[in-house]
Amino acid sequence: MLKVPYLEQIRRSYDAVAADYARSVKDPAELDPLSRAVLGAFAELVTSSGLGPTADVGCGPGKVTAYLAGLGVSAFGVDLSPRMIELARAAHPELRFEAGSMTALESGDDELGGILAFYSTHHLPPKELAAAYGEFHRTLAPGGHLLLVTRVGEEEHQRRTYGYGDGDPAPFDSYRLPADRIAGLLEGAGFAITAQMLQAPEEGAKRPVAGFLARKSATASRAAWMTRTESA
Ligand SMILES: C[S@@+](CC[C@H](N)C(=O)[O-])C[C@H]1O[C@@H](n2cnc3c(N)ncnc32)[C@H](O)[C@@H]1O
Repeated sequence: MLKVPYLEQIRRSYDAVAADYARSVKDPAELDPLSRAVLGAFAELVTSSGLGPTADVGCGPGKVTAYLAGLGVSAFGVDLSPRMIELARAAHPELRFEAGSMTALESGDDELGGILAFYSTHHLPPKELAAAYGEFHRTLAPGGHLLLVTRVGEEEHQRRTYGYGDGDPAPFDSYRLPADRIAGLLEGAGFAITAQMLQAPEEGAKRPVAGFLARKSATASRAAWMTRTESA
């Protein structure tokens, strides 16, 4: 596992609260209609494109991974927290779950048909996002689809909250960015944004949620993209 300090802290904190998180997080079938519609559209896109498997990055206890699998997607999960991975494997033994970071995926170049990042990128400091999105682009096959869903704000904002699991309070640093900044970073990583959704806060929630469907060009190859970046 990577020894990057901010990743170590996220891993420790999610390990500490994993069991409580798994108990309290909604089953995707109980999500609001728009969230389910976006997941459904993503599932249809990746199954009909017939490219490689779909990685649910930051899968937590694997509920959304299993939901995608139920929609016919060849899905597997990756999470920084080994405890989350244990819980995901126990709940869904028929699916593959691996410990790892979305900032350095084990998947090879052009290997994946889809990547889902569902409420999992907000712990990355903003300066790390370009590299993570670059990693999504590297591992997606040409024509592959990304769905990224995250809370957004009018301006960049960092906050620290604490979770209570089986020990001391676990610190969580998270970051919110304006939706257009996320869109710009995705385009900078080589993606074409095919659809963008901005969902007003639900009752009780304070922040809007943005969803981005993005695609790696069907003709993109790593070499071509690097050449374009270097000559820009
Ligand atoms: C709020 S939970 C969301 C879990 C799941 N996507 C869901 O919707 O139920 C965020 C998850 O992202 C994982 N995570 C955070 N940073 C990560 C990284 N760099 N690589 C992989 N997983 C990460 C955490 O361990 C945690 O399980």
